[in-house]
Amino acid sequence: MADKKAYLKVDGIDETIELPVLHGTEGPDVVDVRALVSKGLFTYDPGFMSTAACDSAITYIDGGKGILLHGGYPIDQLAEKSDYMEVCYLLLNGELPNAEQKEKFVSTVKNHTMVHEQLSHFFNGFRRDAHPMAIMCGVVGALSAFYHDSLDIDNEHHREVCAYRLVAKIPTIAAMCYKYSLGQPFMFPRNDLSYAENFLYMMFGTPCEEYKPNPVLAKAMDKIFILHADHEQNASTSTVRLAGSSGANPFACIASGIAALWGPAHGGANEAVLNMLEEIGDADNIPEFIAKAKDPNDPFRLMGFGHRVYRNFDPRAKVMKVSCDEVLKELGLENDPLLKIAKQLEQIALEDEYFVERKLYPNVDFYSGIILKAIGIPTNMFTVIFALSRTIGWISHWNEFHSSPNKIGRPRQLYTGPTMRDYPG
Ligand code: CMC
Repeated sequence: MADKKAYLKVDGIDETIELPVLHGTEGPDVVDVRALVSKGLFTYDPGFMSTAACDSAITYIDGGKGILLHGGYPIDQLAEKSDYMEVCYLLLNGELPNAEQKEKFVSTVKNHTMVHEQLSHFFNGFRRDAHPMAIMCGVVGALSAFYHDSLDIDNEHHREVCAYRLVAKIPTIAAMCYKYSLGQPFMFPRNDLSYAENFLYMMFGTPCEEYKPNPVLAKAMDKIFILHADHEQNASTSTVRLAGSSGANPFACIASGIAALWGPAHGGANEAVLNMLEEIGDADNIPEFIAKAKDPNDPFRLMGFGHRVYRNFDPRAKVMKVSCDEVLKELGLENDPLLKIAKQLEQIALEDEYFVERKLYPNVDFYSGIILKAIGIPTNMFTVIFALSRTIGWISHWNEFHSSPNKIGRPRQLYTGPTMRDYPG
């Protein structure tokens, strides 16, 4: 909707340029700058600090107030009252399911949990010590070679089938990455278990003995999935939308999202948190690391602190902190040395002027790293679990993009290279 206008006066252009101001249902108004190109102007916003790249009805974040809503529902309520399958339905369809819709959704996802047997051969091409995110990028991208029957991106039903396939197969592939690194046999999914229980089973079960997922750990896992499910136009989701805008198939688009997520400033942070805690090694060393983080001449940052959008406590981190305490208690790990360092670091950073002034609160990855470590998940699998959880967000945004008229994403630039010159000689 646009009933306000912005007026732009530029030196050298006589007319005042009139731009519509759009407003959504929540959040800041948006100046529609699309007409600027016809006046010979581009906007400039590296890092997209002030740029809305699309309109979307899926997720809303108010970083100042520490609010995260999916389909209008606050994340803490979803984490408390809902489960991951329900949140997946909500992100894909915009509404919570009724009992019948939920049952159908869950059973359809379960129908797709196995991967094509040929896909398992892909793993043999990787070194056993390969980073599982490297394997994820390759294997998820390769899914497009297996499911030709649903690749028409203009067909709503095909898009839906792809969403089911991705949500169902990602835990299977993620667990296969782990099993491959151990040299253990891949575990087939068990459809009598919940989504989170099945993931723990495929990670930690073996064909030799019965494995019963611990309900406290399965609940914590489900919360991790919910809390990472979507986060509006972050780097990986924007990557998926941009890849999707060229008409690329959904499996390729999700693989591009996985690649973007891998970096330590984004999804790689949960892994970086644990590496940092190990590097700190002893609570006595915390002040040294805090000083490094505060030193403007030192690139070191406290991993798991700060967020581009949240300038208040990350609402996901609040839920994760409670879940973290539950897991540590269940496993009797309250005195684990690494986890003790984490708790002390959190306390110091929450009180230190540098962090308080800059509103650098612990983010979701600070606590999720600790929970995953306590559950026994190796550090290099942390980002894989983020990717698993975020797949529903990525595919929901990809689907939203293709559900209405769209354009290929094609940013422009401020050129700073040489002007035209003749080839020498
Ligand atoms: N440790 C120490 N100082 C920090 C940190 C940190 N973790 N984060 C920001 N700062 C400082 C930064 O040096 C700057 O200080 P000054 O104003 O004196 O120059 C100020 O805070 C603002 O930082 P910024 O770089 O402008 O903030 P940004 O919005 O560009 O960066 C961030 C956001 C998440 C990349 C950054 O806070 C960071 O690198 N954090 C650590 C990595 C991390 O935990 N990432 C996970 C984010 S949550 C999961 C997800 O959604 O992907």
